[in-house]
Amino acid sequence: MTSSLDLQKRANDIIMPLYPHKDVALSHADGSYVYDIEGNKYLDCAVGIAVCALGHNHPAFKRGITEQLDKGFTMSVGSFATEPKVKAAELLVGNCCSDKIFFTNSGAEAVEGSLKLARAWAHENKSEDCKEFIVFRNSFHGRTYGAVSATEKSLHQPKFAPYLPGFHFAEFNNLDSVKKLITDKICAIMVEPVQGEGGLTSGTKEFFEGLQKLCKDNKILLISDEIQAGMGRMGTLFAHAHFGYEPDLIALAKGLGGGFPVGAFMAKAEIANIFNAGDHGSTYAGNPLATNVAYHVVSEIVQPDFLARVKEASAYFIKKLNALHNETGNTITSVKGEGLMIGVDTKYEIKGLLRELLKNGMLATQAGKNTLRLTPPLNISNAEIDEAVEKIGNVLKDNDKLTEYES
Ligand SMILES: Cc1ncc(COP(=O)(O)O)c(C=O)c1O
Repeated sequence: MTSSLDLQKRANDIIMPLYPHKDVALSHADGSYVYDIEGNKYLDCAVGIAVCALGHNHPAFKRGITEQLDKGFTMSVGSFATEPKVKAAELLVGNCCSDKIFFTNSGAEAVEGSLKLARAWAHENKSEDCKEFIVFRNSFHGRTYGAVSATEKSLHQPKFAPYLPGFHFAEFNNLDSVKKLITDKICAIMVEPVQGEGGLTSGTKEFFEGLQKLCKDNKILLISDEIQAGMGRMGTLFAHAHFGYEPDLIALAKGLGGGFPVGAFMAKAEIANIFNAGDHGSTYAGNPLATNVAYHVVSEIVQPDFLARVKEASAYFIKKLNALHNETGNTITSVKGEGLMIGVDTKYEIKGLLRELLKNGMLATQAGKNTLRLTPPLNISNAEIDEAVEKIGNVLKDNDKLTEYES
């Protein structure tokens, strides 16, 4: 029988070295758990980084796929209306301040579409020179050229230059730093409600209120990148609703398909209608399979009881982590984040911590320089939260394999 180590070696030999493969190879998943090919079980507090919003193999997710199985997946996707595409669009628009939507295949594509639409809007409504953006330090918006140009990492990776010009980096949660960058050339400000890759830093309500006012006063669009924080993860369907602001454009992906690749960008009608036929598009975007899955996944998430439970689970998780913080002295240095997008800073190096957690049967991810990121399924139970906190506690207490982090 193939072993995890054998598969890891074969993967390393043939897959580009962009993600180092872990020591275990995964075989299948169910609910909040994944299993390796030796049959060991892991509590999944990563779910593909906030992707499987309903956990693995949820009936609503499977319904989205099986309903479409015998009906065809790709029927001249862009040019014809299909029921799944229209139903998914109506559901999302019906629960939001936006009026129109365009589906994409990934988060980066949702960001690219938003950047293009913002520029086209400014070209028509402001001036031909108004094509620049304000974005933030520690941001993450994706790996395609537009999205990566808006991402802080582009400032430190000259090997991929030249990037798209016209991206100016302000400090997150610092309105003065934004004000200093405003000129007639700025068409939009793009922001994450909670910086995910950047280390689980939440924007404050005052920051978003101020951003919205700055945008309004200066005729600048506000783009909310809710690819990681959206689709129920804050306990509201859209992340901006949790923070109380109203963006002009919204980028979605990850939780939208609950594990199936689908994204979208949304805008108010007066902005969306700037696009003319042929201005933008994508071969697979809005295909009936992806949109049927999105429809069923979002139908589940949008239920008031489901969203209320996310808030309850978040409060329970954070309370338990804070109790562990008190119990383990200065081992945990902070518990942060919002909703079910939780970060734990510890005095240990994150790589070793993740390795030991994996050995103890738990999956989580790294965010920022040294933050343990927990993005569990939105329907995680209290018993599973207890299990996660116990495993983190065990690893932190039995710490001879961990190395202290030097900031
Ligand atoms: C906030 C944010 N924006 C954009 C992206 C890019 O999405 P994708 O990896 O689907 O292209 C991500 C992915 O991690 C993200 O977290």
